[in-house]
Amino acid sequence: MPTIVFIEPDGQQKSVTSVTGQSLMQAAVQNGVRGIEADCGGSCTCATCHAYIDPQWAERLPAIRALEQDMLEFALDTNAHSRLTCQIQVTDDLDGLVVRIPHAQA
Ligand code: FES
Repeated sequence: MPTIVFIEPDGQQKSVTSVTGQSLMQAAVQNGVRGIEADCGGSCTCATCHAYIDPQWAERLPAIRALEQDMLEFALDTNAHSRLTCQIQVTDDLDGLVVRIPHAQA
């Protein structure tokens, strides 16, 4: 089972054992990661699951789709590494992935 490293808005690191096939958002919510609200439950309509993906991992992730890109316009403090965590499925290849939650979502 892959381990995902979430860095919460205050800098605190939380390593979470995830299940292959669930989304990064689900892994965060189920493990009480602060700053991932996921108000829409994963239907890509709220942008409250926004996070920054560590640049080293960017190429291993699925490409961003138009709906996710559009919804990111409603997220706080986006940058080139922004993704919506509900749109990324955990795979074994993502073991060790580092995900940072923006300060604005504290
Ligand atoms: S949980 Fe709402 S957009 Fe991801």
